[in-house]
Amino acid sequence: MAEGVVIRPERDADHPVIAEVVRAAFVGHPDEVASFVERIRASEQFIPELALVAEDSSGVIAHVMLSWVGVEGGSRTRILNLTPMSVRPDRERIGVGSRLIRDALGRAEAAGEPAVMVQGHPSYYPRFGFERASALGFIAPYPMLDEAFMVKRLPGYSPDLAGRIVYPAAFDALGY
Ligand SMILES: CC(C)(COP(=O)(O)OP(=O)(O)OC[C@H]1O[C@@H](n2cnc3c(N)ncnc32)[C@H](O)[C@@H]1OP(=O)(O)O)[C@@H](O)C(=O)NCCC(=O)NCCS
Repeated sequence: MAEGVVIRPERDADHPVIAEVVRAAFVGHPDEVASFVERIRASEQFIPELALVAEDSSGVIAHVMLSWVGVEGGSRTRILNLTPMSVRPDRERIGVGSRLIRDALGRAEAAGEPAVMVQGHPSYYPRFGFERASALGFIAPYPMLDEAFMVKRLPGYSPDLAGRIVYPAAFDALGY
């Protein structure tokens, strides 16, 4: 399963192929998500070492970003957020997305970060330890399916981190 896959931070030279992977993964709204990636990269919320690609002999097959979102009323003003997550369609369902997410969470933990937020499929993210964020006191940035608003607690987690999540301007590309 997903053998021969290497995970590493993205490089400038990867940007065109990352855009292709993102567009193929989000075929229903390719422009919005490709633009979202570019806007995160151009923003103060971008964290180069936590924007990762998975690569095999065919090139870049998946991409994920952990970047900052704001927290109001919590003990810290910002927290990591996982989005967007893209797997090239011909490499879906062989474990690449799982590898990339586990790797990203490991890097976040190694950096001493206490938690990672995600807004995503409630049937996918709990297997990595993501749980309902509202149950821990987090408030979503706008009304959304409660089960889709999740947080992964890392060893440095503390209950006073919880607060209202505020998405930065880069998220406007998604039409929120
Ligand atoms: C969703 C996605 C990131 C999963 O990555 P992946 O590498 O295909 O997933 P993995 O191989 O690690 O895990 C496979 C399992 O994920 C789950 N899964 C895959 N796609 C899913 C989806 N769209 N919704 C819910 N669960 C999904 C399934 O349980 C699957 O197991 P199965 O094949 O036995 O049904 C990837 O399919 C993708 O990029 N999809 C298009 C873009 C997208 O929806 N991004 C995520 C936004 S939150």
